Amino acid sequence: MKICIYPGSFDPVTNGHYDIIKRSAQLFDKVIVAVGQNSSKKTVFSTEERVQFIKKVTEHLPNVEVESFSGLLVDFVKEKRANVIVKGLRAVSDFEYEFQMASMNHKLAPNIETIFMMTSIKYSYLSSSIVREVGRLGGCIQSLVPEVILEDIQEKLRP
Ligand code: COA
Repeated sequence: MKICIYPGSFDPVTNGHYDIIKRSAQLFDKVIVAVGQNSSKKTVFSTEERVQFIKKVTEHLPNVEVESFSGLLVDFVKEKRANVIVKGLRAVSDFEYEFQMASMNHKLAPNIETIFMMTSIKYSYLSSSIVREVGRLGGCIQSLVPEVILEDIQEKLRP
């Protein structure tokens, strides 16, 4: 069984993330979306909220599971008996940071591969912080996040 882990902070999950989840679900037998914490970021949505949003968005995808993790990503990957990490690349600017992460993860766990999927062009400008910023200032985020979680997100971000 080919299992991949799609990690991120997902604060909140966007249409760009959802695009990567759907495409990974076609390539792997099981996709585990791993909601983690980047130690240099403070999240607006709690871990529980971030997990619940992704569960709601992916409930129609039978081979997608959602879990939170703390500690090293590679330890979580091993615990799940997976050996592939999937990451989305939006633009050249993502490369340096992702290259560093993938190289360090490879050094920590040489049997785990990181593979990159190009984010669809229409979402290449999108990020969770853009969604939070536009939502907080009362702008329309309808085309940025999946419809099923739109209201929940708007409610939380509303000033
Ligand atoms: N569409 C839209 N946005 C996307 C995207 C896509 N396909 N892919 C990435 N992004 C955005 C995210 O929304 C996020 O935006 P933000 O900065 O505005 O919040 C940004 O790109 C980076 O996101 P992500 O890939 O989720 O990275 P992250 O830095 O938020 O989280 C962890 C990465 C949690 C996976 C990472 O910190 C980690 O592995 N932590 C565990 C500790 C560990 O093992 N550390 C050692 C690693 S070397």
